[in-house]
Amino acid sequence: PPLRRILNLTDMEKVAEQILSHKAFAYYSSASDDEITNIENARAFTRYFFKARVMRPVAHCDPSTKILGFKSSIPVFVSGAALAKLGHPDGEVNITKGCFKEGIIQMVSSNASLSPATIIDAAHKSQTLFFQLYKHRNDEIAEKRVREIERLGYKAIFLTVDAIVPGNRERDVRSPWILEEQESGPLYHVETDNDMLKEDVNIFGTAGALVANDDRDMTWEKTIPWLRRLSKLPIVIKGVQCVEDAVLAAEAQVDGILLSNHGGRQLEYSLPPLEVLYSIRQQRPDVFERLEVYVDGGVRRGTDVIKAICLGAKAVGLGRPFLYAQSAYGADGVVKIIQILKREITTAMRLLGASTVEDLHPDMIQRVDWQAY
Ligand code: FNR
Repeated sequence: PPLRRILNLTDMEKVAEQILSHKAFAYYSSASDDEITNIENARAFTRYFFKARVMRPVAHCDPSTKILGFKSSIPVFVSGAALAKLGHPDGEVNITKGCFKEGIIQMVSSNASLSPATIIDAAHKSQTLFFQLYKHRNDEIAEKRVREIERLGYKAIFLTVDAIVPGNRERDVRSPWILEEQESGPLYHVETDNDMLKEDVNIFGTAGALVANDDRDMTWEKTIPWLRRLSKLPIVIKGVQCVEDAVLAAEAQVDGILLSNHGGRQLEYSLPPLEVLYSIRQQRPDVFERLEVYVDGGVRRGTDVIKAICLGAKAVGLGRPFLYAQSAYGADGVVKIIQILKREITTAMRLLGASTVEDLHPDMIQRVDWQAY
């Protein structure tokens, strides 16, 4: 269908499902075990309702914000997700171009199908890109990676800590894309050819290959100072899943946390990130003063974005929607979903009585104990 027929992010997902190969869609869409956490990530948003304020001037409405001090046209960023070339020959660069046009920040995955250099070369000079780091278990290899991404000009490191072993994603295991990688030429720029890896793929599917070399012994005491010594870049911990760890992150003096369960692809029955955000608001609101808090998982509407901002998030990330959009329409698809989100966000902000993101406040939202649908 022509792009103008795409009215929301679900429409985009449906087009992607039609055009992607069975294996590619299985890899992008799958989640762990019975996929309950993935479903609940999205459903959690339906338990929060707005308390709209009227008779407030909203003719001028500005949804822009800053993330780690970098400008963003809406409080939304791209959460790094692997293997964009599975869906489109230009891969991650589609997302880079779309983000530039619409003024939002792309976090590039450690397992992107293009190298960090190729992706940042395709970016505009003024464009901000963040890097998602999987820490290699070999410190020397990890150190080289960190130095490289700082030298290339990435502006922050999102250290992923929720994927030290691959989650059990059965739809991907049943038809693992990665074993047939060589047929279409390598889509993946990191070495994958060792025996342990092949074994992991048979058990864990594509995810097994992608996180096989990850450090399983990371700690607050050891890993954060290690990273701080190596790099001046802001550090964000991606994959915080409870209030206690949010507090530990603040004590470790990192710059931010991304509340995330990896889109339900890692620990099945991990709490929905929006509920973790709510618990931080209830139990430890001081955390919001000490670092920037972000959320990802199941965000599909402008109202979802606003709910997280009302509860104290600085911005929210989306993973799958960007993979689907670039698969279906290349960079134009990426532009389209950002424009959709922007329109949904400004419409809802006006109806809610907010003209800037600073106006979005915990008083404007209420958690209900009934389910919307
Ligand atoms: C991911 N995610 C992810 N996270 C990460 O830190 N490194 C990675 O390489 C990947 N790869 C990846 C691939 C695919 C296909 C998906 C769907 C996800 C997790 C991602 O960053 C993010 O946390 C979730 O995608 C957010 O959930 P939604 O927006 O997809 O519901």
